[in-house]
Amino acid sequence: KAMAILREFEDKCGTPIGKLHQVADAMTVEMHAGLASEGGSKLKMLISYVDNLPTGDEKGLFYALDLGGTNFRVLRVLLGGKEDRVVKQEFEEVSIPPYLMTGSSDALFDYIAEALAKFVATEGEGLHPSPGQQRELGFTFSFPVQQTSIASGTLIKWTKGFSIEDTFGQDVVGELTKAMERVGLDMRVAALVNDTIGTLAGGRYYKQDVIAAVILGTGTNAAYVERAQAIPKWHGLLPRSGEMVINMEWGNFRSSHLPLTEYDQALDVESLNPGEQIFEKIISGMYLGEIVRRVLLKMAQEAAFFGVDVPPKLEIPFILRTPHMSAMHHDTSSDLRVVGSKLKDILEVPNTSLKMRKAIVELCDIVATRGARLSAAGILGILKKLGRDTLRDGEKQKSVIALDGGLFEHYTKFRTSMESTLKELLGEEVSESIVIEHSNDGSGIGAALLAASHSQYMEVAE
Ligand code: BG6
Ligand code: GLC
Repeated sequence: KAMAILREFEDKCGTPIGKLHQVADAMTVEMHAGLASEGGSKLKMLISYVDNLPTGDEKGLFYALDLGGTNFRVLRVLLGGKEDRVVKQEFEEVSIPPYLMTGSSDALFDYIAEALAKFVATEGEGLHPSPGQQRELGFTFSFPVQQTSIASGTLIKWTKGFSIEDTFGQDVVGELTKAMERVGLDMRVAALVNDTIGTLAGGRYYKQDVIAAVILGTGTNAAYVERAQAIPKWHGLLPRSGEMVINMEWGNFRSSHLPLTEYDQALDVESLNPGEQIFEKIISGMYLGEIVRRVLLKMAQEAAFFGVDVPPKLEIPFILRTPHMSAMHHDTSSDLRVVGSKLKDILEVPNTSLKMRKAIVELCDIVATRGARLSAAGILGILKKLGRDTLRDGEKQKSVIALDGGLFEHYTKFRTSMESTLKELLGEEVSESIVIEHSNDGSGIGAALLAASHSQYMEVAE
């Protein structure tokens, strides 16, 4: 009976290639709709105000702050221009206590500003701003923001594990600036960017062929370079570059073609943001382990998978995290020892048979494969929108996509499945010109680079 539950789940999670093409097409359609008008689609297609990507000429000392997961990072980067590039880079990672993720706006921003102030205090030899100059910061804020300029924007909604009522509708740069003033830190936010935008900028700094960035981490999202003229809802001046970077917020994509199951529906209903971020909830790191837990719970409750008693720990939401799932999924020992020990340590199930362990590995595989294949379909959607999914006049146009995030970085089977699915979708010839590249912590550097190109001292620096 437990296996029947697993089989039924597998069936519902199916992502045959035809379905993936439908998902990609739906993504392209929604992209058009989101660019056409505000509220035109579930895909917000947010205008980033980044119309110039890094060139390599950026110079000076800049700070970056990266907020968006369970950790946040502060960075100090000394940029040396074309020849020297990143001369020096220092960073610190600070974890965010969970109570701050659902507390008050002031408490969260004070905490961040304090950590930043402490970091600034460690400035060493040669890593000071020039005398009389204010420190400048690139702020990576990995949530949907309606930008009003390169350095201001209001929070549309929280996603992932955050939920703080009083930040809605606030200018997040204003919130940070006020907190910096409260802790006595004199720093100016020169650029406010989403992590996808930061990753795209960081990727472009090293490779001119980078046209898009995708985050597969706690959450998932993508950004890409669009022709400004292809953005009907943009009423501002046409940028000189003719381009504008768009933050898709693809985590909120949904389509009748998505293979959703009863477990996904239940997860969504009980989440902090019901009805929102449906694509994200079947793909990203915050949720994959939780889906596995939900299926296991049903197998335990309805088919006594773990014996007559349901392990009490299994009833605790989010107890099985994606890194645990990944460890079980990658277990290569003949007796699936890792699976056994995870079940023991996390769910407090002391004894499991090899057969049970195999079923669990299979379950992890089903959940990870669905997420990986759907993210490949999302990428295909972007390539289709840009006309890069086919050969143009038989010519190969190299397109690099910068990827980052813990899921991509650490969950090998997820990554390889995503990459091979993209190849499968594109066909051999086209896939030769599409390159997926890991941009390690590109978003921090990217934010610093964008702070540099929007520095108040630009003329001085040049
Ligand atoms: C990091 C980026 O490498 O990846 C962050 O610097 C981004 O900006 C993050 O938010 C996403 O990954 P995760 O796994 O930490 O959510
Ligand atoms: C969530 C956020 C989005 C971010 C993504 C990856 O989807 O809404 O802004 O880019 O997570 O961190």
